[in-house]
Amino acid sequence: MTLITKTNAKDLPEVLKLLSMVNLPVEGVKEQFQNFFIIRKDKTIVGCIGIEIYGNTALLRSLAVHPSFQGKGLGLQLVHKIEGYSTEKNLRNIYLLTETAEKFFLNLGYNYVPRDNVDPRIKQTIEFTTLCPSSPVMIKKISFL
Ligand SMILES: CC(C)(COP(=O)(O)OP(=O)(O)OC[C@H]1O[C@@H](n2cnc3c(N)ncnc32)[C@H](O)[C@@H]1OP(=O)(O)O)[C@@H](O)C(=O)NCCC(=O)NCCS
Repeated sequence: MTLITKTNAKDLPEVLKLLSMVNLPVEGVKEQFQNFFIIRKDKTIVGCIGIEIYGNTALLRSLAVHPSFQGKGLGLQLVHKIEGYSTEKNLRNIYLLTETAEKFFLNLGYNYVPRDNVDPRIKQTIEFTTLCPSSPVMIKKISFL
C-alpha cells in the first residue's frame, strides 16, 4: 500500500515541477496547498492531488502522476484519498474540469454536468473562469444528505 501524505510548504517547488511536467496549470496551487496530498518514491514526489473547498462543495485539481510511475494504480489511490478526505470534511460533492482524463473519472463514478448547472461557488474559481474555460465539467456526489 502506498503512503499518501499531506503536503508541507517546503514541498511546493517539487509539486509545481511535477504539475508542469504533465502540463497541468500551477496557478492557484500555492493558495490551496493546505489541501494537497502527495506520494513519494525514494524521497521524490511522484504523485499529487489537491482540492479547493468552498463551503460544502469542492473542486478536485492537480491530479498528477510522474510519467515513469503512471499505470501502477497511483492515480486511483490519490483520488480515493481525496474522496475520503472529502467525506471527513462533510462535503456534498466534488467537481472537476478535465480534458485529459475524462474516461479515468467516468470509471470512478464521476458524471458530466452542464456548465450552466455548476454551483456558483465553483463557477467563480480561476479554473472555471480562466484556466479551463471550455473544459468538460464532471461531478461526483459524496453525501446524499
Ligand atoms: C491521469 C493520471 C493521474 C492517471 O494516473 P495513473 O497512476 O497512471 O492511473 P492509474 O494507474 O491509477 O490508472 C487507473 C486506471 O485508469 C486508466 N487510466 C489512467 N489514465 C487514464 C486516462 N488519462 N484516461 C483514461 N483512462 C486512464 C488506467 O489504464 C487504469 O485502468 P485499468 O485499471 O483498467 O488498468 C496520469 O495519467 C497523469 O498524471 N496524467 C497527466 C495529468 C492529467 O491528465 N491529470 C488529470 C487532470 S484532471
